[in-house]
Amino acid sequence: MDLERIYLDHNATTRPLPEVVEAMVACLRDGFGNPSSVHAFGQRARRLLDRAREQVAALIKASPEEIIFTASGTEADNQALRCVATPGTAIATSVIEHPAILNTCRFLEAAGTQVTYLPVDAQGILRMDTLEAALKPDISLLSLMAANNDLGTLQPVAEAADLARSRGILVHTDAVQAAGRIPLDVRSLDVDLLSLSAHKLHGPKGVGALFVKRALPLRPLIQGGSQERRLRAGTENLPGIVGFGIACEWAAKHMDRNMERITALRTRLEEGLLAIPGVRLHGHPTLRLPNTVNVGLPILGEDLLLNLDLEGIAVSVGSACSSESREPSFVLKALGIPDQEARQTLRFSLGFENTDAEIDRTIQVTRSLLARLT
Ligand SMILES: Cc1ncc(COP(=O)(O)O)c(C=O)c1O
Repeated sequence: MDLERIYLDHNATTRPLPEVVEAMVACLRDGFGNPSSVHAFGQRARRLLDRAREQVAALIKASPEEIIFTASGTEADNQALRCVATPGTAIATSVIEHPAILNTCRFLEAAGTQVTYLPVDAQGILRMDTLEAALKPDISLLSLMAANNDLGTLQPVAEAADLARSRGILVHTDAVQAAGRIPLDVRSLDVDLLSLSAHKLHGPKGVGALFVKRALPLRPLIQGGSQERRLRAGTENLPGIVGFGIACEWAAKHMDRNMERITALRTRLEEGLLAIPGVRLHGHPTLRLPNTVNVGLPILGEDLLLNLDLEGIAVSVGSACSSESREPSFVLKALGIPDQEARQTLRFSLGFENTDAEIDRTIQVTRSLLARLT
């Protein structure tokens, strides 16, 4: 008999909703026109594109014309940083950003941009006094993630943006993990740029978006045609974009219900895991995404992960982008956790499809594996 698999790795990616898949298939079949074409096929595709833009904008309370579709969250991050910063300028970011930001910063440094990497406290939060001291007059852009992928910790983006703005600094936030999971409002956050990715909110992979505040001067990342207000050349991935739109509309509609449900599941999981000897919580106890629990263990995270997988339970030792390297997570190290302890961690990230029974089985299997392996 097939093992009943339990998926607890929603920060890596999520299952596309049935309505997303349906809309994408319909688009592939009937909406194949090029949105830039003048004829009826093109106009039909253009309407699908416009509708998706409205749906994505609505999720973050932006105007549709402030949304540029990209091929990923990574591309949106690259564009936000590389197309605002010019050689000779300086930018600031946190030490626990996703590699899409950190490696872009390293690329920019090599090209002459000065980058300040802001430390976080032991719970993974950027403190305002740290930010205040670091925001020197030469800094032109601050990039601060809304929620961390490994810990789920939420950064004080609105306060940081307020401070940055008072010093004439532009603000970008990587909201890839936060979008669809907690309410986001670009006006109350008061950010200039915000990155999104469809596959973290039950949309398809290979589609992202960059919110670009009206009238903000931004350069394209790649050269080509005049799509996306000349800011992102290339014929649009319309089926992906349509799926993204549906996923955003669904996330906005079910936000309260999902947050409540997922928080209850997480509390159940967290209480169960923390009752196991030697297991402790990493990150902030409350300033956190409703779906993420990162725990310290008495054994290597990788060992428990592999054993859980044999039992049909999918979790992660950290972000998928770093899980191929055997290095301890740089995010946990940034919290001051020693290397060995940073290898002894596991991330559980939940979704609306998980059930109480799955959580109970996960706790019970984790408990017996730890008893056997320690
Ligand atoms: C915080 C954060 N930013 C950016 C990305 C990259 O998004 P994408 O997978 O769409 O390139 C991820 C993906 O894990 C992420 O967690």
